[in-house]
Amino acid sequence: MNYRIKHFESIDSTNKLALELINNSPPDEGLVVWADEQTEGKGHSNNLWESEKGKNLTFSLVLKPSVIDPAEQFILTQMISLAIRTLITKFVPDEAVKIKWPNDIYIAYDKVAGILIQNILKGNEIDYSVIGIGLNVNQETFRSDAPNPISLIHYTGASVSVEDVLSKLLIEINTIYSRLGSKNYLEKLNKLYLENLYLYKKQGNFREGKNEFKATLEGIGEYGRLKLRLENGKIQLFDFKEVEFVL
Ligand code: BTN
Repeated sequence: MNYRIKHFESIDSTNKLALELINNSPPDEGLVVWADEQTEGKGHSNNLWESEKGKNLTFSLVLKPSVIDPAEQFILTQMISLAIRTLITKFVPDEAVKIKWPNDIYIAYDKVAGILIQNILKGNEIDYSVIGIGLNVNQETFRSDAPNPISLIHYTGASVSVEDVLSKLLIEINTIYSRLGSKNYLEKLNKLYLENLYLYKKQGNFREGKNEFKATLEGIGEYGRLKLRLENGKIQLFDFKEVEFVL
């Protein structure tokens, strides 16, 4: 994939701009919209993504993943989560770096990166996928009530070049993306995702609405749903937003 980087000092949201570009002048895949500051960075569930100007990595990558069936779009989540995880372990080799389902990246019990994927479907194909990534690099204090943010600098002690993180991450993504076409690789991707999944095969506390319960994380079901074994032994599948981890 050929990357082309559009760098901005300040825009509302890199995902939003990438979607506008797709609408107005459909780009080839590999376009990267990177901003030092987002005035309306989007997180999941209508949350704002907090990131101090110039301190962290906030960008969106435009892909045209025609090899991926829309019903299997969770593959994109797995691919990007694993690429970010691999990169982070290179900066913090002594820490446990895990993926909290579906796509938060954690160092120990703190969130270092989040992913917001927005797909545009055409017929039975994913026409475009906008992969928005926020990775905390040098920000030392966070104002928002996000539960537990952390940056790489907390572990490295010295500041890290955001541009260097971006270029290394794009290499990790390309490595995985270029292998997606092969069937055997998808099995490997699934295996790697599970191996690096927070709480995999362990018991944890979860919340569904107001109901808190204990369950064992058994794996991932169809459409990327979370597969939990409840205390009564029954398996239940949860969609994103139906269940939360209680950390
Ligand atoms: C989450 O809530 O965990 C997802 C956060 C995604 C944030 C990134 S920052 C770059 C891109 N542009 C946005 O507006 N959001 C994503």
